[in-house]
Amino acid sequence: MANIGVKIAGIYMKNPVMPAAGPNVRTGDLMLKAVEGGAGAVVSKTVSVVPADDPRPTIRSTICRGAINCETWSEIDVVNFLQELKKAKSAGVPLIVSVGYRADEVEELGKLIQREIAPDAFEFSIHYVGREIQPIVDIAMALRRAVEAPIFMKLSPNIPNIEELAVAASPYVDGFVAINSFGPVLDFDPENPVPKLGSQQGYGWLSGPPILPVALRIVHQVSSVQPKPVVGVGGIEKGTDAIKFFMAGASAVQICTGAIKFGHNIYGKVAGEINDWLDKHGYSSIDEIRGLYAKKLSERKKFAGIPVMTIDEEKCTGCRVCVTKCIQGALYMDGEVAKVIPQNCIGCGFCADFCRYDAMELGERI
Ligand SMILES: Cc1cc2nc3c(=O)[nH]c(=O)nc-3n(C[C@H](O)[C@H](O)[C@H](O)COP(=O)(O)O)c2cc1C
Repeated sequence: MANIGVKIAGIYMKNPVMPAAGPNVRTGDLMLKAVEGGAGAVVSKTVSVVPADDPRPTIRSTICRGAINCETWSEIDVVNFLQELKKAKSAGVPLIVSVGYRADEVEELGKLIQREIAPDAFEFSIHYVGREIQPIVDIAMALRRAVEAPIFMKLSPNIPNIEELAVAASPYVDGFVAINSFGPVLDFDPENPVPKLGSQQGYGWLSGPPILPVALRIVHQVSSVQPKPVVGVGGIEKGTDAIKFFMAGASAVQICTGAIKFGHNIYGKVAGEINDWLDKHGYSSIDEIRGLYAKKLSERKKFAGIPVMTIDEEKCTGCRVCVTKCIQGALYMDGEVAKVIPQNCIGCGFCADFCRYDAMELGERI
């Protein structure tokens, strides 16, 4: 059985799955439910100096199994939020408190929460503080001054030069969390085109499976350019989603929308699936797969010119699916076997993703 325990920034977690800040960890009771549901650590909803006042509705479903939301930070004021955090502290797993937003605000909150709660770590969100690098680094420095516990910077995907930010902030933080929700975005029902969300324009932030590839890219970037650990978050609903994040360079993962959709047991379910995947593939720990993507990237086969699709006729079952996926007309059925018209094939590779029999591979054009 694989060991799925991880240590990030000196914090040991018995498994690498935790909730991401959101309505799933809005109160102390909900944070306890996350732990009962199998989370290896608990992260709180973001708290700020003034309570939020979010326009309803705040969370709606959207395309591709995603969600859009206009929830901001905690609607519970910080004094009452301390009581919620006290409950969560008793859960027996590491507690990471999420704070926001300006430098003076996180400094004030950091000091208070450090004194009253002494959490295992802090996370600070840069969601509402602009895109300029130095002011964001200043926030990290302010929190660093205020607290003794490790601090994680939670990155928003709309920062244009994320690598530059990661390099600049790295000396002042103990790790990064990537990513927050993506946006702003808009969706509505064409049969009744009223705003789905209560926000002013009905705009919101996209989360869940549609943002997983954005999150993977940012985890890969941030873990490639600086040495501090990265916690991956965005669209994770199953073990293989989390495995991809580890391969992209993450040391642990968080889940928000998956918990909203499927409930608190998702953390333990995903942790179990990570364990099963590692066992099945002969790995004994997450360390063994962390960053595997970067290794494969450096070993990637380069084609001399435009490659062409090749079909292993022994494996082809004649299901025709690939033929229906080729917009170039480069595939046809020859009896029960798919064949390629090389002069029509542009080597895009799309058809191979639909072959369930591992019969297609790009090869050198001869
Ligand atoms: C309804 C909702 C509320 C959220 N609130 C917060 C928050 O208070 N602080 C924060 O840093 N991120 C917040 N997030 C972002 C999530 O923590 C997470 O980074 C993002 O949704 C991507 O992960 P997911 O696809 O697993 O949801 C929120 C997300 C949702 C859907």
